[in-house]
Amino acid sequence: MNRWEAEREAFRKLAGAARAPVAIVGAGLSAESGVPTFRGPGGLWRSHRPEELATPGAFQRDPRLVWEWYNWRRGRVAQATPNPAHRWLAAYERQVPSFLLITQNVDGLHGLAGSRNLVEFHGNLWVVRCTRCGREREDRSVPVPVPPRCPDCGGLCRPGVVWFGEAIPRDALARSIAAVQACDLLLVLGTSAVVHPVAGLPDLAPEAPLVEINPASTPLTPRARLSVRAPVGEFLAPLLADGTEENG
Ligand code: OAD
Repeated sequence: MNRWEAEREAFRKLAGAARAPVAIVGAGLSAESGVPTFRGPGGLWRSHRPEELATPGAFQRDPRLVWEWYNWRRGRVAQATPNPAHRWLAAYERQVPSFLLITQNVDGLHGLAGSRNLVEFHGNLWVVRCTRCGREREDRSVPVPVPPRCPDCGGLCRPGVVWFGEAIPRDALARSIAAVQACDLLLVLGTSAVVHPVAGLPDLAPEAPLVEINPASTPLTPRARLSVRAPVGEFLAPLLADGTEENG
């Protein structure tokens, strides 16, 4: 018997029956694409201090240092491609059009895999925002000339991501809350589920069955209907062949 076959069968049933599923995903989803996670072995927050790199105060103090770190991350992400987990999520959306994917990842790999019904809860690494006029633009250069200036007003630009201590953009939050409140299945994939407000979203759907796929346990594990201790790409890869599976 293949590894996780029983869990895959249970997963297939839950995913196939759902009419309004939502997935909440984190850095672990891109781990198999070679993008480092934040916590856990090899995690970025093991060797970097978040308050020196990912807060508005850090950017005010030293925009160059913050941009250099983002340039390093851009370099890593530029070499990464979607893995089977990204591809399965994009295929699931084609199968169940109401499916909403809420990602904490800023790497843009879901878009590359074809996901469209997507909330990038913490923004996107390839977006640059002017701190003076607020204008956002896509900039895929690696590295970005540091620190970048706004082509419209000359203001200092920052990464278009959400830092610690900042609010989640109103639309992203409202869309996520509405979808979770109405969902009939919650997939929680590759996230440590400790960073709020994302970590609190499952509380809005106490009745929805929750499926977790993560090699480690998380605060949501006790509530999970199905908890699979597996790398999510490896777990979902065989399900990609189910493309013709009927929903419901
Ligand atoms: P974390 O780094 O906190 O957690 C990554 C999770 O992925 C851990 O629970 C790992 O066990 C799990 N994991 C590792 N490899 C995996 C794999 N192959 N398959 C499945 N799971 C795997 O990342 P997030 O939960 O995304 O925020 O962190 C949330 C937020 O904290 C990030 O968006 C970022 C960070 O600070 C901001 O920068 C605002």
